[in-house]
Amino acid sequence: MSSGWSLYVTLITVVFMGAACWLVWWQRKGPPGNVGAGESMGHDFDGIQELNNPLPRWWLGTFVGAVIFAAVYLVLYPGLGAYPGLLGWSSRGEYDGEIKDVEAKYGPLYDRYGAMAIPDLLAEEPALRIGERIFANNCSRCHGADARGGVGFPNLTDGDWLFGGEPDVIETTILGGRIGMMPAFAPAIGGEAGIPAVVAYVRSLSGNSGDPQLIEQGKAKFASVCFACHGADGKGNKILGAPNLTDDIWLFGGTPDDVAYGLRNGRRSQMPAHADLLDKRKVHLAAAYVYSLSHGLSEESEHARGAVSPAHPDADKEHDEQRKSR
Ligand code: HEC
Ligand code: HEC
Repeated sequence: MSSGWSLYVTLITVVFMGAACWLVWWQRKGPPGNVGAGESMGHDFDGIQELNNPLPRWWLGTFVGAVIFAAVYLVLYPGLGAYPGLLGWSSRGEYDGEIKDVEAKYGPLYDRYGAMAIPDLLAEEPALRIGERIFANNCSRCHGADARGGVGFPNLTDGDWLFGGEPDVIETTILGGRIGMMPAFAPAIGGEAGIPAVVAYVRSLSGNSGDPQLIEQGKAKFASVCFACHGADGKGNKILGAPNLTDDIWLFGGTPDDVAYGLRNGRRSQMPAHADLLDKRKVHLAAAYVYSLSHGLSEESEHARGAVSPAHPDADKEHDEQRKSR
């Protein structure tokens, strides 16, 4: 707060408190229009008159009490402009104090887990549980509570990776964020007329049937344009986050319309960087949790944790089918 504003706020506070006291004092001494105590103010309704009586003592008492309380409060706590108050209390300080308490309580635990390699953390029940909570609070709004993602948000449980599923790569992804970008490529493949062929070829890579002639045409176009990022075999490129197009796992849906839409309009998605949002040790635990979703956790331990266990045995399969059909 600049000193001008501070003065302004202080003046308003003090002047209003003074004015309120003066009003009460003035009312006690002599009312407007020189009407004496107990006399009618001249307002009459159905025979009920408004009389000029002094304020009740108890009311005055609470008023004076409130003013004294306010004065003491304003001396002890911040309230008058930039004046910090004798006690030096601040909401920031309160918050920092709470953070310090939490750090004192959980800091050593975070330090211990933060120093462990992610594969070793898979054996640490509590570490994964903390990671799961961090995920629920920071990641699930995009990747889903079960981390299975949705259209445009990758499934983190399927062992299929845009950028890579090694522990350090996952951590790098979370800390620094990622941007996946594919420009609109319709012009490069002969415009609208070229789209059906490329779509048919791309879908055939995942085993979908189509017109063999179209697929053959699409293959040639793919080899001249798309291979640069998705690879000659269509298996993608983890450095660019270019998806594997051969596994029938689709980030944006695998119907002919979905694929054609991407060719016409391009695709762009962003994973936000979390280095400034989350403590490094928390990122480490979130990475461990993400890693655990596709590595080394037996069915049993997953069910024991009660975490991502499906509501019924076929739920997993159904979900995969839904994804494919999107
Ligand atoms: C605002 C939405 C959003 C939030 C929040 C978010 N993500 Fe992401 N994340 C994405 C998107 C979108 C991508 C895909 C980026 C791309 O395709 O370039 C992604 C990609 C990833 C990947 C790479 C997946 C792969 O296949 O390589 C990982 C790992 C990941 N996120 C983990 C997390 C974790 C852990 C958190 C929480 C700390 C998190 N994300 C929070 C949107 C989000
Ligand atoms: C400059 C590199 C680049 C080129 C060239 C490129 N792509 Fe892509 N493509 C990407 C990236 C990166 C993504 C992921 C975009 C995202 O995460 O938002 C992508 C996504 C896709 C998807 C969506 C996959 C899914 O899982 O839903 C399809 C389909 C696709 N590309 C097909 C093609 C075809 C066909 C061509 C050639 C005409 C092509 N791409 C050329 C980089 C490229």
